Amino acid sequence: MKAQHIYNIIVAAGSGSRFGAELPKQYCLMNGRPVLMHTIENMRVALPDSQIVLVLNKDFVDYWAELCEQYSFVSPRVVVGGDSRWQSVKNAVDTIPREAEVITVHDGARPIVDRMMVERLIAALDGAPGAIPVVSVTDSLRRVNEQGSAPVDRSQYKAVQTPQAFHADKLVEAYSLPFNPTFTDDASVMAALGNDVALVEGDTYNIKITNPLDIEIAQLYLRQR
Ligand code: C5P
Repeated sequence: MKAQHIYNIIVAAGSGSRFGAELPKQYCLMNGRPVLMHTIENMRVALPDSQIVLVLNKDFVDYWAELCEQYSFVSPRVVVGGDSRWQSVKNAVDTIPREAEVITVHDGARPIVDRMMVERLIAALDGAPGAIPVVSVTDSLRRVNEQGSAPVDRSQYKAVQTPQAFHADKLVEAYSLPFNPTFTDDASVMAALGNDVALVEGDTYNIKITNPLDIEIAQLYLRQR
């Protein structure tokens, strides 16, 4: 497969706060540069020559352009996101040309992407419509409902990461479905059309920056690599 037929969507349009208040985590500094620049750079290493589509919140497009100038960073093509992750991915999918063979989708808030893991994902597409990285759950788990809670067997569960990789035609078809609240990632959108994705060994270092302390942890991980 030619690398230039791989399209790589990086979603970074989430905004927990309005500009002027606290910055969304993807713009916070990690080792002196915004988290999102690390994510893009690591995806460029993992999938050289693939076409990156960067999805940003409309209120941060100008800010991102300023950051790119400040850090002499060449931005990928930018698409404006939507109110949900699903809408943000859909906006990007709608701009991808028909010659695309593979589409990967990655969270901008996951700066530590391992090239070997991405290679495992792409290889798994030989036998499946999609492939996703998963890791074992190390905490104990309980199912909670109105009646109370009960322990569940954690060996039956996996935590799902990104990037997730798909045959482009299957992902485009899945994203033509109307939104459903069960669509928490791209594999769940694919599942709505009966597409059974392959599970690939993920990477415990591939954390999603969620709390401010996660940036410190990610910096530590980067130093260990
Ligand atoms: O909110 P959550 O952590 O699940 O978001 C995962 C990724 O999706 C983040 O990188 C975030 O920026 C992105 N996102 C988006 N558009 C939204 C919501 C989330 O691109 N409306």
